[in-house]
Amino acid sequence: MKCLVIGRGGRCHAIIDALAKSKKVTQIFAAPGNDGMRNLATLVNIEETDVVKMLDFAKKEKIDLTIVGPEIALEAGMVDAFKEVGLKIFGPTASAAMIETSKEFAKSLMMKYKIPTASYRTFTDYLEALAYIKNQSFPIVIKYNGLASGKGVVIAHNLEEADKTLHEMLIEDFFGDSSVLVEEYLEGPEFSLMCLVNNEMVYPLPIAQDHKRAFDGDKGPNTGGMGAYSNVDIISQEDIEYAVENIMKKTASALVKEGVPFTGLLYGGLMKTCDGIKVIEFNARFGDPETEVILPRIKSDLYDVFCDIIDGNKIDLEISDDYTLGVVLASKGYPGKYEKSFLIENLDDLDVKVYHMGTKIKEGKFYTAGGRVLIVVASGKTLKEAQTKANEAASKIKCENLFFRHDIGYKSL
Ligand code: AMP
Ligand code: GLY
Repeated sequence: MKCLVIGRGGRCHAIIDALAKSKKVTQIFAAPGNDGMRNLATLVNIEETDVVKMLDFAKKEKIDLTIVGPEIALEAGMVDAFKEVGLKIFGPTASAAMIETSKEFAKSLMMKYKIPTASYRTFTDYLEALAYIKNQSFPIVIKYNGLASGKGVVIAHNLEEADKTLHEMLIEDFFGDSSVLVEEYLEGPEFSLMCLVNNEMVYPLPIAQDHKRAFDGDKGPNTGGMGAYSNVDIISQEDIEYAVENIMKKTASALVKEGVPFTGLLYGGLMKTCDGIKVIEFNARFGDPETEVILPRIKSDLYDVFCDIIDGNKIDLEISDDYTLGVVLASKGYPGKYEKSFLIENLDDLDVKVYHMGTKIKEGKFYTAGGRVLIVVASGKTLKEAQTKANEAASKIKCENLFFRHDIGYKSL
């Protein structure tokens, strides 16, 4: 079987790595992919959002299964176009993906179907939003109502910060549209619950926890994620069962009732508050870097799993009891400005998985080529063992312009 994976980062590399283990898969393409995947996949120079070229390629190569990584491809209608011509593709249609691409859609769905989440109001007018916030308590959360590459959420601690954010989002139009959600601030441990979904059928994967801040101790700016681990023992089995029943299944069923049934990976970004578990956000695709620590725990053949979900067949997932922990090596300066093209050495002979997030190869040597560059993923019988192994491997990688967090997993240790 021939597979095409759409994407270019660590998540895409982890999906390819899992597919490569399938006995049925003979060839894998990555579009556009990155150089670190070349030993497993053939790179195809097509952008994630170029639906026409991607579809042409899939037809020409007679691709048996396509997997969509990033939300921008979903929003561009990749799945709709493939389905129209009867090509097998894993991911939701553009309208079902609105659960991620439109925060307003997600929020109003949750309100209508009583799915627990922070209370909110939507604004398009700067002065109205400011007047509302003046009567609220701080901190308060301001969210841009659309895709903003993880930069669309600001937790404002005072009126000045809130005003600046509203100005940027509604007047200066930082992200190109102009509507925001103002949301109640919630507190508690966060976790990511990813489920394989076809209509009302919902299969949970093991949970993971992302680390969004740049530096140890959750200091520094928000990033795309500096590491993750699975399992997350501070969240009980009972909590997970509650979340699967009352959040994930309810949402899948709500999407069916709304006429936008979901097939693919539904990601719940959840928080365990003192008032119970609530939704912080939904994503319509695999989480990054959660995928890099979860897929290595799945023992079932992932090609079969994807096909069965698409076809609506029952699945029986086999999951390893081992803990996994991933540490991201990022360019100094990330998530702000950073330089590229630094030599990376000692990538071989590490006792961990190394997924490439942003590297380039020149004359057989790897160089940095992005903000997040690599993720090393270790497993162990305990979380501590996985953490020690991952940190040791990250320290062995030589590159003068990379940094990483040493405390991934600390909330569960
Ligand atoms: P999102 O992009 O919606 O996942 O938000 C990014 C991060 O902002 C989340 O992982 C949370 O840590 C934080 N956040 C978002 N919404 C809230 C909220 N209502 N209360 C507290 N923190 C939030
Ligand atoms: N780890 C959060 C995300 O994938 O959006």
